[in-house]
Amino acid sequence: MHHILITGGAGFIGSHVVRLFVNKYSEYQIINLDSLTYAGNLTNLKDIEGKSNYKFVKADICDFDVMQRIFTDFQIDSVIHLAAESHVDRSIKDPLAFARTNVMGTLNLLDAARQTWKDFDKQHLFYHISTDEVYGSLEFDDTLFTEETKYDPHSPYSASKASSDHFVRAYYDTYGLPVVISNCSNNYGSFQFPEKLIPLFINNIRHNKLLPVYGKGENVRDWLFVEDHVRAIDLIFHKGKTGDTYNIGGFNEWKNIDLIRVMIKTVDRLLGRKEGESEKLITYVTDRAGHDLRYAIDSSKLKNELGWQPSLQFEEGIEKTVHWYLENQDWLDNVTSGDYLKYYKEMYNY
Ligand code: NAD
Ligand code: DAU
Repeated sequence: MHHILITGGAGFIGSHVVRLFVNKYSEYQIINLDSLTYAGNLTNLKDIEGKSNYKFVKADICDFDVMQRIFTDFQIDSVIHLAAESHVDRSIKDPLAFARTNVMGTLNLLDAARQTWKDFDKQHLFYHISTDEVYGSLEFDDTLFTEETKYDPHSPYSASKASSDHFVRAYYDTYGLPVVISNCSNNYGSFQFPEKLIPLFINNIRHNKLLPVYGKGENVRDWLFVEDHVRAIDLIFHKGKTGDTYNIGGFNEWKNIDLIRVMIKTVDRLLGRKEGESEKLITYVTDRAGHDLRYAIDSSKLKNELGWQPSLQFEEGIEKTVHWYLENQDWLDNVTSGDYLKYYKEMYNY
């Protein structure tokens, strides 16, 4: 029996984590804590919101007193921490918001855990979800990020995540707080906010809108289907070694422009257009400032120690994902119009 606080559970990855834990572990109480920023969308969780082992709490992780009260009131014994500002472009425009939530918010949660749990026992765990971006950027060669790679963040987003990782490790070293960290590569799948490359471009292709490719489109990302990330989170939460770090990735590197061409072909085909017809929408624009060249994760530790590996071939994952966005145009319309923000008020009578 666990009382698990999942932060950021109304966001993209968080909603998949909440769904898996609520459905798979009926004996656990799952408390989804989210402040519902523009990225938080409770309609992502309509299918499980009535379940007896699920509770939603609207709160800001930057509010220390509220965090402490939540730990006590809900007898929280473990945390899966995903709440964050997550978009690199936004971090370039508003870096302070990233320091506030990603650094101070994480620190608040760590300290609420430390002060509430006091004597740590084997039930306690603070699981921090982080990113491969903390490792910086690789050249166009065959090197991969391992758990030993030195941190070298370049964007305000990755610097804030790196800082939060350092605080998590500092709480382990200084206070013995039981922690575990995972650093994952780029996720894709359903319910991702359409500011990120894949949902943005699928939506634009459908509506014949321009596709803004940063720089020459040569940057490389390592893409992982979100449900595979969530399976890894489940495994690490239950079997990960306290104090350890696990890298999670798909061994699936794509140059942006090649990935964009795959998306174009897939959307065109599924919409009954001539395959490749939408390539005319590709528009090269000014590069992102400080744009990391290449990310690629070595997830062999997770494979060798806990037996995890990605379940989906990329071709299958991208097909499923394009299909989902085309089938769920109302979800995208709701998000792009801003109507999803009203759902909480209607649902929770707030
Ligand atoms: P997201 O932006 O879709 O969701 C973030 C969630 O956090 C939203 O629901 C938002 O409302 C909530 N939130 C933001 N600030 C908050 C605050 N102050 N208090 C409470 N809630 C707050 O993000 P995502 O893509 O699902 O990423 C989730 C986590 O995984 C992040 O920590 C991110 O750094 C990490 N991550 C993401 C990826 C990726 O490809 N998306 C890859 C690796 C790691
Ligand atoms: O690597 C993990 C990270 O992946 C996560 O920690 C972040 O939260 C997540 O947002 C993601 O970061 P990226 O910056 O890699 O993702 P994004 O979807 O913003 O961009 C993917 C690539 O596509 C990147 O090289 C920039 C490029 N791009 C993006 C957008 C939105 C474009 O060329 N045009 C665009 O319009």
